[in-house]
Amino acid sequence: MISKRLNEAINDQIKAEFESASLYLSMAVWCAKNVFYGAENFMIKQAQEEEEHAMKFVKFLLEVDADVVIPELGKPRADFSSLLDVFESGLEHEKLVTSRINDLVKLSDEDGDYATNDFLEWYVAEQVEEEKTFRDIVKKLSMVKGSPAGILRIDDQLSNR
Ligand SMILES: [Fe+2]
Ligand SMILES: [Fe+2]
Repeated sequence: MISKRLNEAINDQIKAEFESASLYLSMAVWCAKNVFYGAENFMIKQAQEEEEHAMKFVKFLLEVDADVVIPELGKPRADFSSLLDVFESGLEHEKLVTSRINDLVKLSDEDGDYATNDFLEWYVAEQVEEEKTFRDIVKKLSMVKGSPAGILRIDDQLSNR
């Protein structure tokens, strides 16, 4: 049995995952408007992944017969100053999500809830990957120091995701 506080915390996380999806969709729109079509493709796939993260939590809660709250979402940020700003914001967002996942793991530890603890392990590993993905792109974009040719080459690579 999952505790009430852990159930609530996971519902908060479902909201956070859907809000991640909406933030990345907002970034995809900004990228498209600024003709960064590779980054648009990257962010659309990223948004789809975040929706999957949310759905995985929903399915888990249903599996353990816990309560599921369909969240009301806040409006995502829509204004960015550059492609570097987009990916730096993405990296900061992922770090925030990592700390949220860590908090869930801590709660499940305190509860001695090994089923939830085991389920959360997937998210712990996923966050390592998510942060690395964003950090690598931030590093590359920082390397070209605003050179249009450099930025467009990186954007091109992002269409392969
Ligand atoms: Fe996520
Ligand atoms: Fe993520």
